[in-house]
Parts: sequence; structure tokens; C-alpha cells
Amino acid sequence: MFLADFIEQLATRFGGASIHCGHGVDNLYDEAVYLVFGALGFDFQRSVAEQDRELLPDEIASLERLALARVEQRIPVAYLLGRAWFAGYEFHCDPRALIPRSPMAELINDRFEALLDSGPGRVLDLCCGGGCIGIACALQFPACRVDLADISAEALALARKNIALHKLESRVETRQSDLFADLDGRYDLILANPPYVSQTEIERLPPEYRHEPRLGLHGGGTHGIEIPARLLSEAAGHLDPNGLLILETGYSAEALQARFPATPFLWLDFEAGGHGVCAVPAGQFRQLIHPG
Ligand SMILES: C[S@@+](CC[C@H](N)C(=O)[O-])C[C@H]1O[C@@H](n2cnc3c(N)ncnc32)[C@H](O)[C@@H]1O
Repeated sequence: MFLADFIEQLATRFGGASIHCGHGVDNLYDEAVYLVFGALGFDFQRSVAEQDRELLPDEIASLERLALARVEQRIPVAYLLGRAWFAGYEFHCDPRALIPRSPMAELINDRFEALLDSGPGRVLDLCCGGGCIGIACALQFPACRVDLADISAEALALARKNIALHKLESRVETRQSDLFADLDGRYDLILANPPYVSQTEIERLPPEYRHEPRLGLHGGGTHGIEIPARLLSEAAGHLDPNGLLILETGYSAEALQARFPATPFLWLDFEAGGHGVCAVPAGQFRQLIHPG
């Protein structure tokens, strides 16, 4: 069978099985390409036509195994491959942490244009999971030092694998901490993608999300914003006076805005899609973060 035919058939099979694409891919054809190219080690920058050739029997057998796990167990492709791509960089990826998909990738690739005047010196990736946000930032800004912090020892073990993958041991460290509790000093830039999904929403999510750690999804309380709200309330004490917090709260943005009605959150727009990411400069912070 030819590669292009296998991909077409796999996409059709995904459609028949009501596969959900929510982990960095937004259609069934790309989901099939992701699985096949990822498993065969092909370059994602090249098209199917460029890679087209007849598949070998053992390739078909191993692709079949992965396809079955994707369809029957609804395991996301990134976990099947053990790899994910974020901001153009490759990361180890497994169920110890969420699959990277934050729209913050676009901000990092644009080097926080219009948000930062100069490259940050000290950066915190809070609620780092496997470390994709902080590591991508370290790769974009070769002079910065980055702390990757998470409450989960398992997520931090994965983050350390990713630090090693990108040979960043001299500039990037992991810190186990319940939000800011065990962190010290002040940061020029805090990037945070904390859990922000409510219990009700978690129960409604497609089965793919059940493979991800609940600790990475549930933001606490009825609206899922207890962790983001606590983070906002505590962040000022950990930012440099000219520092900036960039916080993702996805579809819980409205609930967070209602919790802090006096805060003029700057909600950012993304060309590649995504929403619910705000920027709060340290100055505004101290005056305006008052829960309603
Ligand atoms: C939405 S995931 C984000 C992972 C990663 N930053 C990304 O964008 O893919 C949230 C992460 O927050 C961590 N977390 C949950 N509660 C926390 C807390 N109280 N303090 C620090 N980290 C926490 C989880 O372990 C999880 O890794």
C-alpha cells in the first residue's frame, strides 16, 4: 500500500470512530499524517507527496498497532509516539504531563513582540508540566535563565528529560513547588499555563483527555479557576518591578475576569488560533488585582 492511501484510509477510519482532534491538530487528515509521519520518523515540513512511497509490511504492521490504540483506546497520538512538537521544537511527551498545545508558542516564536522591550533575564515557567513553554523560551532567548516549576514530581522528571534533550542543563532548572510556595527571588517574565478546567467540563471532555493527568486539568472550585486566581493573587510578589506575567486560562477567562473585576486584563490575539491568554505587567498588578 502507498503511504498517501494509508493516510487517506486512516483519516476516514478516524472519522468513523469519532476521533477527537484536540492535541495540537484540528482535523482528521492532519491527525493521520501526524501518526504516520511521527511513527516513520518523517520530516513534518515535507508534504505527503514528497514522502510518498510503498509501505513495507513491517511498517504497515506497526502503524496498524498505533492506529488501533488511537481508535480503540483513544490514546492521543503524542502519547503513542512519546513525542510532541511545540513552538517548532521537539519534546518527550508521556502521560506524566499534559500534551503541549498552549497558544503561548506563538508569543515565544514572536519573541513577545510588543510585550517585552528586551530579552528577559530570569524566567519562570509555572505549572510547567513537561517544560515545553520554559524550554522553548530558553531556546529563543539564549541569555536567559529559566526555572521550570510544578507541584508534580512526575511532571518534573519528564521536564528534566526535555532539558537534557535540548542540552539546557546550564540555564534551565526544575523546582517542585505548590505555585510560588517554594520559589524565591523575582522574575522578569512569568509564563503560566495552570490547570483551569472545572469538574463539570472535565466530565464532558472527549475520552482522549482521560489519558492526561487530572492534576493538569482541574483548576479547582466550581468554575475551575481557584488555581489561576491564587496564582494571580500571589504573582506580584515574585515579579521584578518591570516584569510581566503571561497567564493562560482558556475558556475560564470570563470566570477569572468576573473574579477580578477591577483588573484590566490584556487578552491577547493569536494568528494561529487560541484564546484566553492574558498579559499583566507588574506595575498594574500591584494596584489592580482585587478579587470582587
Ligand atoms: C495545564 S498543565 C500545563 C503544562 C505545560 N505548561 C503545558 O503548557 O503543556 C498544568 C500543570 O500544572 C501543574 N499544577 C497543578 N496544580 C499545581 C500547583 N498547585 N502548583 C504548581 N503546579 C501545579 C500540573 O501538575 C500540570 O503539570
